[in-house]
Amino acid sequence: MDALFKLGKPLLHKLDPEDAHTLTIKGLKPNLLPACRNVKSPRLEQTVCGLAFKNPVGLAAGFDKNAEVISPILGFGFGFTEVGTVTPKPQEGNPRPRVFRDPSHEAVINRMGFPNGGLDIFKKNVENFRAKYPGTSGILGLNIGMNKDQEKPEEDYKLLVRELADLADYLTVNISSPNTPGLRNLQSKENLVPLLKEILEERSKASKQPPLFVKLAPDLEDPQIAEISQSVLEAGIDGLILTNTTLDRHDFLPENFRSEMGGLSGKPLTQKSTEIIGKFYKQTEGKLPIIGVGGVSSAQDAYDKIKAGASLTQLYSALIYQGPGLVNHINDGLLDLLDKDGYNHISEAIGNA
Ligand SMILES: Cc1cc2nc3c(=O)[nH]c(=O)nc-3n(C[C@H](O)[C@H](O)[C@H](O)COP(=O)(O)O)c2cc1C
Repeated sequence: MDALFKLGKPLLHKLDPEDAHTLTIKGLKPNLLPACRNVKSPRLEQTVCGLAFKNPVGLAAGFDKNAEVISPILGFGFGFTEVGTVTPKPQEGNPRPRVFRDPSHEAVINRMGFPNGGLDIFKKNVENFRAKYPGTSGILGLNIGMNKDQEKPEEDYKLLVRELADLADYLTVNISSPNTPGLRNLQSKENLVPLLKEILEERSKASKQPPLFVKLAPDLEDPQIAEISQSVLEAGIDGLILTNTTLDRHDFLPENFRSEMGGLSGKPLTQKSTEIIGKFYKQTEGKLPIIGVGGVSSAQDAYDKIKAGASLTQLYSALIYQGPGLVNHINDGLLDLLDKDGYNHISEAIGNA
């Protein structure tokens, strides 16, 4: 797999980032790639929210927006994949170009604005996956969001919970993308508590009640972190995904890149998202499982997030620069890091910074 990526990368990186992505999805969709080695170790296996994860490395939301390549992604060795963000109605997102690379810092800026084919297509794709691969050992998260023109966000989230709960191993409520106007305001206490109550009530009516995660932004001050922690614990949310992209712009980034609007991801986000994980872990006293995401591009990055309090990790941007071989590389590296610290099992490292 590594060899194939090395061969294709110069071509893919000559293309507009979104065209390269579309081509990648097209290439993966027939699921014809040869099976590759997957790292398997009981030391990396964990049950989180009642779900059996075979390793702690997952694909973050946004890569497989329409749930088209679930099986090939799991085939790369990911323990789980999160598809979406899906919105009830199809929508085009912001005008292109809307994704930008900075290879010198392995960074990405995107202002996509949830382009996706809408619930009907998404649901059909997930149903097809469930029918075709009933015994799959990978975990599938479904990430839900609201349409840009929706004035009552709770209506979209409730509809998506109603329609998708049966198909999901877990659901993620995305209220942290910076590219949908007003979305991040849902993180404020006045909005968050009633929204989560309504969503959880909707889930209680479903025939299957998958764990519900809330995905948050990294651009939060300490008082907001304290407030949100209290709100999610009170509401009875099952876990947090930390973090989405940042609005920060570091001085060291090239001017033509950093001046693009949107959310920044990849290496420049690593440290900030790890700090946010640590803060939430402390505020919630380790009571809520955390999926740590943001600039994971090595085993050490993933391990740092776990030591800060994450039970599991995800990545997206690093895949663009390092290819799918990174997944096994991280899992192998995690085993080495456990040895180095004298831990038998990955769960022993959680929150032990
Ligand atoms: C092109 C692109 C599209 C994304 N789309 C979504 C999305 O639809 N929903 C979501 O929750 N996060 C989305 N994200 C954010 C990622 O899931 C992740 O939280 C963020 O990029 C940080 O991880 P990374 O540094 O490993 O990329 C997107 C990220 C990128 C780069």
